[in-house]
Amino acid sequence: MKFVRNDGSKKTVVPPGAELVLPPEIGGLKKPVTRSRNLRIFPDSLFISESLMDKFVIRGGNPLVGNVRISGAKNAALPAMAAAILTDEPVILENIPDVRDIQTERKLLVSMGAEVELGYGRAAHRTTISCKNLVNPEAAYELVKTMRASTLVLGPLVARMGRARVSQPGGCAIGARPIDLHVKGLERLGATIRQEHGYIEATADRLRGGHIIFDKITVTGTEDLMMAATLAQGETIMENCAREPEVVDLAALLTRMGAKIEGAGTSTVRIHGVEKLHGARHRIIPDRIEAGTFVIAAVLTGGDLTLTNCEPTHLGALIQKLEECGVKITAAADSLRVTNGHQLIAADVTTEEYPGFPTDMQAQYMVLATQAQGTSIITENIFENRFMHAQELVRMGANIKVEGRRAIVRGKTPLSAAAVQCSDLRASASLVIAALVADEETIIDRVYHIDRGYERIEEKLKGVGAQIRRIGEILPRRAAAPSVVA
Ligand code: EPZ
Repeated sequence: MKFVRNDGSKKTVVPPGAELVLPPEIGGLKKPVTRSRNLRIFPDSLFISESLMDKFVIRGGNPLVGNVRISGAKNAALPAMAAAILTDEPVILENIPDVRDIQTERKLLVSMGAEVELGYGRAAHRTTISCKNLVNPEAAYELVKTMRASTLVLGPLVARMGRARVSQPGGCAIGARPIDLHVKGLERLGATIRQEHGYIEATADRLRGGHIIFDKITVTGTEDLMMAATLAQGETIMENCAREPEVVDLAALLTRMGAKIEGAGTSTVRIHGVEKLHGARHRIIPDRIEAGTFVIAAVLTGGDLTLTNCEPTHLGALIQKLEECGVKITAAADSLRVTNGHQLIAADVTTEEYPGFPTDMQAQYMVLATQAQGTSIITENIFENRFMHAQELVRMGANIKVEGRRAIVRGKTPLSAAAVQCSDLRASASLVIAALVADEETIIDRVYHIDRGYERIEEKLKGVGAQIRRIGEILPRRAAAPSVVA
């Protein structure tokens, strides 16, 4: 099909297999069109990385009915990929989610000299990482600014290479999120740290075991230092550790690699350092936050949904809270079923470290509170600025008042379709749920946030009856118009 210039108001369906030829000023790359896209092309338009401008259009009111397979956990896969730095032998990880943050981690490891093979077809969720020839122990600002979890390479690089240069992550939509506890911990393991020009430079001939008491419970801080301590001389004792399932999963992988770790999943973790670690194969745990997101979507759409490939025991606090709200959930070994017919009653919630109520489910729970009879008080204890979704929900008709770290939600209020925009990963999930509940068609902007941590969410939702589609948008800016060659 030959592409014909148009006036930008008309949409052109570009069939799969066609090729977009981008203008020379953006590299003149040839981009295969992987799926039919509704593209609105403006005359003389210049491409902005189109997926960054994707939107969701959701028509609400359809109950979610059927089965959804839960993907592997992003927050377990990221530290597991960083752990591969600790050995010169291949590490094979299975059940890796196909999300944007995994691609960023892959770019990061490759930029250091690692070989990262992402499987495809039946092996699509497997990755093989070899850090045999790491030449550049650096995590550059360009990557760290797109994903703070990039800082998880700090400990493994110092432990294995004796040096690391990692960009400071900078601010984040949900809070300041410093990594001072990572740095303090490394200093307690004998590393020399210099911080200049926005980078942390850490060096050590060999780390030595030490005693670390975290001022605050930190998930990636616990993971980063646990990895560093595996190759340290002697024993390390870490206290006030995070107990998240992702920390336990990382310890399981490290143990398969030959590490000596006790107490992962409790507040006190002991690591006996070893000379060398070897390769291993490990299956990443299911994503408890993706599962929780689908549970709330099913409850609010009055659906009958079964989640497979999930780990109900990791969702204890959420399930207990939903039962308090009047929801009936049936759990089996690796599946969860949510059936409809609930009269939701309001219940307060406070986010805590695991096993408390997860902060990564707070935004999704807020949507549920808008549909419950009564007043719910939501207290966010972990991050200081994690209510960005509240105003977008108010735009859809919710009754929410934010006072510092508390949000007062009065329900039940009908939600009406509106144009809204995402500000961070979990806020985007809450807007998708709200749109599934609202009347008519909601347009959600900046869904690139959701692609960071949810694997093909629109296809999974469509598969159980949701009316959702992704549309791409190209912003007009002076440049040569593209041409499409079928
Ligand atoms: C992890 O972030 C998760 N990310 C987050 O998920 C999750 O929200 C968070 O833990 C809490 O559960 C990954 O695992 C990749 P923290 P992390 O260090 O480790 C303060 C998502 O949506 N702190 O446990 O960065 C910090 O500011 C993401 O998937 C320091 O002050 O969180 C926060 O207030 C969002 N200094 C608190 O501790 C430090 O050095 C907990 O943060 C480290 C943390």
